[in-house]
Amino acid sequence: MNGLWWRCLSLCIFIGTSIGAPASEPSSDDNYWAQRSRFLIEESQVSLGGRMHFEYGERAANNILMAAKEEEVDEGFVDPSSFLPARNFLTVVDEVRGSSTFQIIEKMPKGAALHIHDTALTSADFVFENITFRDDLYVCRPADGSFQFRFRRVADKKVTCASSEGWELLADLRANSSIKDEVDTRIRQAMTMIVPDPAKAYPNVNVAWIAFQNIFITIEPMLTYLPVYEDYYYQGLYELYDDNVLYLELRSTLPTLYDLDGNQYGPIEVARLYKETTERFVKNHPDFIGTRLIYAPLRNANDRQMDDYLTTFAALRKEFPDFVIGFDLVGQEEKGEPLARFVDKLRAVSPSIRLFLHAGETNWNGLSTDENLIDAILLNATRIGHGYALLKHPRVLELAVEREVAIEVNPISNQVLTLVGDMRNHPASFLFARDYPVVLSADDPGLWGARGLSYDFYEAFVGIMSRSADIRALKQLALNSIKYSAMPDEEKVRAYEIWTEKWAKFITDMTYEYSIVSRSKRSCEVDFVPT
Ligand SMILES: *[C@@H]1O[C@H](CO)[C@@H](O)[C@H](O)[C@H]1NC(C)=O
Ligand SMILES: *[C@@H]1O[C@H](CO)[C@@H](O)[C@H](O)[C@H]1NC(C)=O
Ligand SMILES: *[C@@H]1O[C@H](CO)[C@@H](O)[C@H](O)[C@H]1NC(C)=O
Ligand SMILES: [Zn+2]
Repeated sequence: MNGLWWRCLSLCIFIGTSIGAPASEPSSDDNYWAQRSRFLIEESQVSLGGRMHFEYGERAANNILMAAKEEEVDEGFVDPSSFLPARNFLTVVDEVRGSSTFQIIEKMPKGAALHIHDTALTSADFVFENITFRDDLYVCRPADGSFQFRFRRVADKKVTCASSEGWELLADLRANSSIKDEVDTRIRQAMTMIVPDPAKAYPNVNVAWIAFQNIFITIEPMLTYLPVYEDYYYQGLYELYDDNVLYLELRSTLPTLYDLDGNQYGPIEVARLYKETTERFVKNHPDFIGTRLIYAPLRNANDRQMDDYLTTFAALRKEFPDFVIGFDLVGQEEKGEPLARFVDKLRAVSPSIRLFLHAGETNWNGLSTDENLIDAILLNATRIGHGYALLKHPRVLELAVEREVAIEVNPISNQVLTLVGDMRNHPASFLFARDYPVVLSADDPGLWGARGLSYDFYEAFVGIMSRSADIRALKQLALNSIKYSAMPDEEKVRAYEIWTEKWAKFITDMTYEYSIVSRSKRSCEVDFVPT
């Protein structure tokens, strides 16, 4: 209530002074207060969504959203320990779910997810509750507490297992009541980064990345069982759809899949599985637009491997020209090869191959990692993954704006992988303040208890953007995600139409649901739109 009152006041002052009436502030220098009000309005106008007008119903919906957000921010201002974005997401997932701001964001149509990785797309709950309860799943439990998984007809003696028990059928372990609970607890722990004390468990970026990569190493042999891979992906699409996301550009390493007969399935077959599973999903959910694929193998590669990647990519493009859209390299930038190492190879193929490069996902300044940003922009990347270090390279930022190279910001990922502790310090606050070409995504939601994009939208909206950033900022993020996607133009038009309809419903539903609350608050509303 307090917050709303202040907003009203500053607008009233602005209106008062702009029509020449004396400001009511008890000041000897009236001009100062007019200047100050103009300053705030100008700041808001150059920010994300700041140039948009409120359209039908949006003002009332905004009041509801902002009441929730301001209450949360103002409570944090008084008692910082209550402010969720200041704390590690791994410890506040459940509290975020209880936030009214989050609950509104969940219902919002968020557009497209443009930066998510294959085997981190789907929630760990699904992997645990569905996949680990399937037949034929064997586990190996070495003494170090790690786990290995394989689907097999019979225990596989060829794959070594550093446990005296050898490969055991998971169903048999679960049938043993004296160990069942412990086994289940440990399996769940092996699937996410969630720990009680992240600062202790992940003291720096290298330690965090080792834990992160160990999860992929643990779950991949379970997920790459052909029927599981398909169901996991389908469920991932469902979780996005359920979170009001309408399109996905998936980055995949295209891991080799297997079945129980000893067959293996290579990149072309994996891409076909993605394409056909997407088509099946769209058939069942016609208001989901679809997906496209970015081939994104490991950056920790030598020249020969890089040549293989590009050969594979060429074959993928030939087979799926509309579905496979581009190339990227993944893995911790500090430990992998810098982009500069592969510049010649990438330049050789550059005009014909679109690059969606991870670059500058780092805290370092002036090292190979943040200099990846320079290569990304000089290689004419279509979008930049993370760009966390962008503020250290203003020229890259200028070129990104000039060439409309969108920055894919993934706030929770940056926090879990220790680049930032408190979201209020996330560098994207600057990108939001100046309406840079930004899209928001989730990177690896399944690995930290998130689902879809809502959690990252929440962290950005409440923790990274200004307290005054409103529903127009969220709307702009959704529109950006369509604009900067690789959809062909006619598909963008369709996505935009579907999104617009859903947005209108979101606005109507919100105002209807909260109509009584919003009526009581409207007494303070000023019908003025800064232009
Ligand atoms: C797992 O999910 C599939 C669909 O993806 C469903 O058909 C099956 O019944 C589920 N199994 C379990 C054990 O939940
Ligand atoms: C159950 O597990 C315990 C602990 O590993 C083991 O000693 C016991 O033999 C198991 N029981 C059966 C029936 O396998
Ligand atoms: C990037 O684009 C610029 C301008 O269109 C062009 O001159 C340059 O050759 C391109 N660079 C690469 C590596 O494709
Ligand atoms: Zn990523």
